[in-house]
Amino acid sequence: MQISDKDKEWVESIIITRPFFSFDFQLPIPTESVRRVLYLHTFPEEKSLMCIKRLRQLYPQAQLHVVASAARPFSNGSLDGANLVQFPGERLPDEFHNSPEGKQLKAEKFDLAFYGYDFSLEANPIEIYTKYGNVLENLVNLGYVENAYVIDRRFLVRKFACYAPWTVPVTIQDTEIHIPFTLMSKDEVCTLFDLAGADLGDGAIVNIGQFMGGSTIILAKASKRAGKSKIHSFDPLIFDPVPDYFKKNEVDDWIEFSLEISDRAIHEWSKREDPKIRLLFVDGDHAYQGCKNDIANWSPYLISGGVIAVHDYGTAGAFPDVDRAVYDTIINSGDYEDFKKVDTLFYARKK
Ligand SMILES: C[S@@+](CC[C@H](N)C(=O)[O-])C[C@H]1O[C@@H](n2cnc3c(N)ncnc32)[C@H](O)[C@@H]1O
Repeated sequence: MQISDKDKEWVESIIITRPFFSFDFQLPIPTESVRRVLYLHTFPEEKSLMCIKRLRQLYPQAQLHVVASAARPFSNGSLDGANLVQFPGERLPDEFHNSPEGKQLKAEKFDLAFYGYDFSLEANPIEIYTKYGNVLENLVNLGYVENAYVIDRRFLVRKFACYAPWTVPVTIQDTEIHIPFTLMSKDEVCTLFDLAGADLGDGAIVNIGQFMGGSTIILAKASKRAGKSKIHSFDPLIFDPVPDYFKKNEVDDWIEFSLEISDRAIHEWSKREDPKIRLLFVDGDHAYQGCKNDIANWSPYLISGGVIAVHDYGTAGAFPDVDRAVYDTIINSGDYEDFKKVDTLFYARKK
């Protein structure tokens, strides 16, 4: 697939005018200590060549390995001196990690691994998984969960671990959690787990935006383990694997799920005998007004000392509306203190 001249022009302008994946968002390791870099060619060719060129600029001292289809060789052969590792066919085989080439890569211990996807970071995760599930699974099986990065169609870079943990059970404080497909990184998962089990005071935990159940399960698992209250989770959609995952994690008795959207659910909530909330997790509507409403509508019930957590904050441009809603309703409100950020999870304590 060729990118149009117009797209190319736009991309080139980004390279010139903006820090083209320069890791201004969470520099993973000091540039000078990067010795080995892996790049999976999953973009259209021209975009991959731009990425390879950029990786060369960023890490001139590093050895670069490019994994690409033997069926679609790079036409101009310009890999800028990178080592080429080929696989047969068009699509990276699901079992590539078990092939001799895959095993070799597994043994190489790359400092950083990258792959591109021709979506924006906010694309529907199910679409992403349908198209790139083989790449994700291979990166997990090659052992590059924690040091791999996704480059999206606008060249925004995001930590791959945000897309990984659903295939690997995560153990936190001796508790094994089977996490379904979620966009949360391992550090975000651990932080939510800690917050849900912490002594923040009396009150419920509310989860806005359940999707496949990742955050709900983590919150429920931690709260149940700490002998604390059940989770109230809201989402107008329910996805197939959710009930199975609730059972598998033994939290189906610790979750009160409602198909009500947050804007409407708040009316019922306000009529509760005890509407106090100790932890409010906002990960529903990512548009400015929706995110702002969730924070503004639900935070009056947050107790003093309680925590508000918002996902997808500070994503280097993928969700600017979430950033703005957090600024307007939390950071600049004067009602919160102790602002923290772990990957793209923002959280703060109510004064
Ligand atoms: C990013 S996903 C949530 C991910 C989830 N927290 C996890 O851990 O994987 C956003 C979800 O919010 C839901 N959503 C969107 N607007 C909402 C609203 N106003 N109230 C509740 N859920 C909403 C969507 O249906 C979608 O499932």
